[in-house]
Amino acid sequence: MATTKRYDVKDLALAPEGVRRIEWADRNMPVLRAIRERFERERPLAGYRVSACLHVTTETANLMRTLKAGGADVVLCASNPLSTQDDVAAALVEEHDIATYAIKGEDNDTYYAHIDAAVDHRPQLTMDDGADVIGVLHAARREQLGDIVAGTEETTTGVIRLKALEREGKLGFPIIAVNEAKTKHLFDNRYGTGQSTIDGIIRATNALLAGKTFVVAGYGWVGRGVAMRARGMGSHVVVTEVDAMRALEAVMDGFQVLPMSAAAARGDIFCTATGDKSVITAEHMKVMKDGAILANTGHFNVEIEIPGLRSLATETREARAFVEEFLLEDGRRLYLVADGRLVNLSAAEGHPAQVMDMSFANQALAAEYAVQNAASLERKVYAVPEDIDNEIARLKLATMDVEIDQLTEEQAKYLASWDEGT
Ligand SMILES: NC(=O)c1ccc[n+]([C@@H]2O[C@H](COP(=O)([O-])OP(=O)(O)OC[C@H]3O[C@@H](n4cnc5c(N)ncnc54)[C@H](O)[C@@H]3O)[C@@H](O)[C@H]2O)c1
Repeated sequence: MATTKRYDVKDLALAPEGVRRIEWADRNMPVLRAIRERFERERPLAGYRVSACLHVTTETANLMRTLKAGGADVVLCASNPLSTQDDVAAALVEEHDIATYAIKGEDNDTYYAHIDAAVDHRPQLTMDDGADVIGVLHAARREQLGDIVAGTEETTTGVIRLKALEREGKLGFPIIAVNEAKTKHLFDNRYGTGQSTIDGIIRATNALLAGKTFVVAGYGWVGRGVAMRARGMGSHVVVTEVDAMRALEAVMDGFQVLPMSAAAARGDIFCTATGDKSVITAEHMKVMKDGAILANTGHFNVEIEIPGLRSLATETREARAFVEEFLLEDGRRLYLVADGRLVNLSAAEGHPAQVMDMSFANQALAAEYAVQNAASLERKVYAVPEDIDNEIARLKLATMDVEIDQLTEEQAKYLASWDEGT
């Protein structure tokens, strides 16, 4: 059932707080701000209907402002039932007049009703974090596929799904995979998620990380960031992997690598970061220490086998906000953070604005690129063009007052030659 109002947020009275926090984030998003100022002048998205399905955070609000400044008619819905910041959703409606459908803690039906509301906007551009809008369009609204010029995708899990659609010849419109930009995954996935995941676990549990055994499942961009920051807080970090190359990197980076079956009995804190399912199962939970904390920072809440945990428990209760306690038959207690959903966005605020500055600069410029190149784009998953990626890196460095050297003519020639030796 589609929502018929032009917005569905928790409480419009929260808007003033949201406005202040959006401004705070904006101060730390100079690259996106510069794009917004240019968009205001050039209006590259004039007349385009955009449906965005993103985590409703202060940084996303600034991206929405940027698209609107570029002339787009924007609707926003949440890309996760727990990641919405209700004050931001209110501010988007009240202050920025952007139709927003998102309530923190919404149930599954409301979550999908909100996605339907975004699809009802009849987008010509889509902007996803986890491919949910694209999923609905391909499954239930196929008649709209022809209206869509292109879509963008923010995260690893979404890109994996869209590449699967492309492989099967079923992708209905071109996609720009923002996650594939270096200025996205090298920084957002690693440093952004690394910091904000630790932040989420600490805010939810107030656990001391020093001296704990912290198990990170998956040593991709996200897993490396989490492992690096947990080590920085004094944890003994254990990594689990299924990929030999990634496991080897973890070993050489100085982490202990174990299969989850062995790590399960040793960990005090577990964090999954794989984009996979059933990474921590009931079998693992059976051997965990009393008091073990389980969190996930991968896109979907399927990495920890929550039904398995429920089946082991004789009693459950809320131990603290965002922490559910599971009492097992033998008296051990396990603690699940944020219902196994992205812990950094559910129990904290998501990535710091400084890093989202680059991710969302990619989103804004990818949208502009898609519109400008609509005629030549095919129904494929494209990377963000390298010149856009490099330009964002250059702009970011400039805003950080970091200067770098330039190749001399002689060096450029040397680096392009094959015949100059010692
Ligand atoms: N929390 C956030 O804000 C945030 C930010 C960015 C990405 N993500 C999500 O985090 C997840 C990981 O993203 P990434 O960019 O690191 O992906 P990635 O592909 O770089 O890394 C995933 C790693 O997990 C490993 N893996 C897969 N199955 C495993 C298993 N059963 N056990 C152990 N390891 C396993 C893979 O071999 C790979 O090395 C994705 O779902 C992505 O969408 C979340």
